[in-house]
Amino acid sequence: MGAAPANQRKKVTLGTLRSLHRKGEPITMMTAHDFPSAHVADHAGMDVILVGDSLAMVSLGMEDTSEVLVEEMLLHCRSVARATKSAFTVGDLPMGSYEIAPEQALATAIRFIKEGRVQGIKLEGGKEMVPTIEKITTAGIPVLGHVGLTPQRQNSLGGFRVQGKTSSSAMSLLEDALGVQAAGCFAVVLEAVPAEVAALVTQKLSIPTIGIGAGAGCSGQVLVQTDMTGNFPPGRYLPKFVKKYGDVWGEAKKAIEAYRDDVKAREYPAKEHTYPMPQEEFAAFEKGVKALENEANQA
Ligand code: KIV
Repeated sequence: MGAAPANQRKKVTLGTLRSLHRKGEPITMMTAHDFPSAHVADHAGMDVILVGDSLAMVSLGMEDTSEVLVEEMLLHCRSVARATKSAFTVGDLPMGSYEIAPEQALATAIRFIKEGRVQGIKLEGGKEMVPTIEKITTAGIPVLGHVGLTPQRQNSLGGFRVQGKTSSSAMSLLEDALGVQAAGCFAVVLEAVPAEVAALVTQKLSIPTIGIGAGAGCSGQVLVQTDMTGNFPPGRYLPKFVKKYGDVWGEAKKAIEAYRDDVKAREYPAKEHTYPMPQEEFAAFEKGVKALENEANQA
C-alpha cells in the first residue's frame, strides 16, 4: 500500500466547493486519520477529508481531544495527504496550538501546510477567534471554522452538550458564524445544534455550513469515519446524530477469527500461498542437509 492507486476524480479545490454551494449541491466531508481511511474516503468520492482531532479518542484511545499534540496531528495529516488525490484536505489545529495569540496560530497553521501537507486548517471558536482567523487567511491558508459544540472546550461547556437551544444562545451562535465568515473562513462546521437553528444560520451565511448533529438544512455534512463505518466494538456509546452505515469492526473480527481457525487447523497457508522451487534444486538442498548431518555425527 505504499502508493495510492490513481483516482479518476478531478482535484477538489476551494473553487469546486464554492461552485457546489452556489448550485445548492450538498458538500460531503468525512474524517480520515491515516493512509487507509483517507484512501477509501477519497475513492468513495468525499469532497473534503478532515484530519479531525477526534483521532485522539477514536484512533489513539485518548480520554479526550485535549491530549493530542501538534506532532501527532502532523504525522496523521501526512499519512492522509499521501493517500488523498482528489478531496480537499483539512487538518484540525489541536487545543493549545492556536489560542494564545494569532501569531502562534499562524505558526501552527504553517506547520500543518508545510509538514502536514494538508490544504487547509480547522480551528474551533466563534467571534473571539476573528483576529486569529484573519491572521491565518491573510497568509493564504484556507480556514474552516467550527462553532456550536466545540469539543476542545468541553470542560467549560459542561460536557458534550447541544448548543443553541435557547433564543439567546442561538443568537450568539449566529453571531459566531457571521464572525468567522467575516474573518475569511471558507466554510464553517456547525456541531450539535438544533436543526431549525442550523437551517436559519445557513440561510443567513454566504459561506457553506457543514453540519454534524445539525440537521439536513446545512450546506454539507461531516461524520467521523470510525463512527459511521461501525469500526468499534459493540456497546460503545454513539452520539444520537450518527448513522451507522457499516460494521467494519464486525467484518474485521470475522476475518481474523477465520484466519485463527485456519492456522490452528493447518489450512492456511494452502499451496497457492507458497513460493515454488524446482524439484532438482530441492533434492540438492536435501542432499546438502544430509551431508551436514553426517559431518556433525562424525565430529
Ligand atoms: O475532530 C473532528 O473529527 C471534528 C469533526 C467531527 C467536525 O471536529
